[in-house]
Amino acid sequence: MRFHTRKWVKPEDLNANGTLFGGKLLAWIDEEAALYSIIQLENNRVVTKFMSEINFMSSARQGDIVEIGIEVNKFGTSSLVLKSEVRNKMTRETIITVENIIMVNLGEDGRPKPHGKTKIEYVRDRLASEN
Ligand SMILES: CC(C)(COP(=O)(O)OP(=O)(O)OC[C@H]1O[C@@H](n2cnc3c(N)ncnc32)[C@H](O)[C@@H]1OP(=O)(O)O)[C@@H](O)C(=O)NCCC(=O)NCCS
Repeated sequence: MRFHTRKWVKPEDLNANGTLFGGKLLAWIDEEAALYSIIQLENNRVVTKFMSEINFMSSARQGDIVEIGIEVNKFGTSSLVLKSEVRNKMTRETIITVENIIMVNLGEDGRPKPHGKTKIEYVRDRLASEN
């Protein structure tokens, strides 16, 4: 799994217990999954369809640095199935895992559209092949 994004836990991210609010963490994961999918599928119209059970394993506190990991489980026809883990950057302790996040590629009509992708691509390779 590659950890692309780091976040700093700030006062506005906390719950009443003084630890990272779960909803905030899910928003970070959802944004990361959307960005990853948009880049992989080369389409801005990608939506989150489904998230499997989530497992909060430990918490984070104000001032902690967390990193968000994303991995591809499967390239479907219109879907991209991802997995995510968020961990503490300094201790590597896992905070949450999400086993299946189904992202769906849409056409201009807002309906699922085949994306035609079968493997992970890197922007640098796309740019190199254009030149
Ligand atoms: C996304 C949406 C267009 C999909 O419509 P749909 O009629 O369910 O589409 P389909 O049944 O053709 O499924 C599309 C793909 O999602 C997959 N999928 C749909 N529901 C799924 C589920 N519960 N679990 C796993 N995969 C699922 C299908 O297997 C299919 O994948 P494939 O093309 O790779 O085989 C529609 O449900 C929608 O607009 N949902 C709201 C999305 C949204 O607003 N998200 C929050 C904001 S980003």
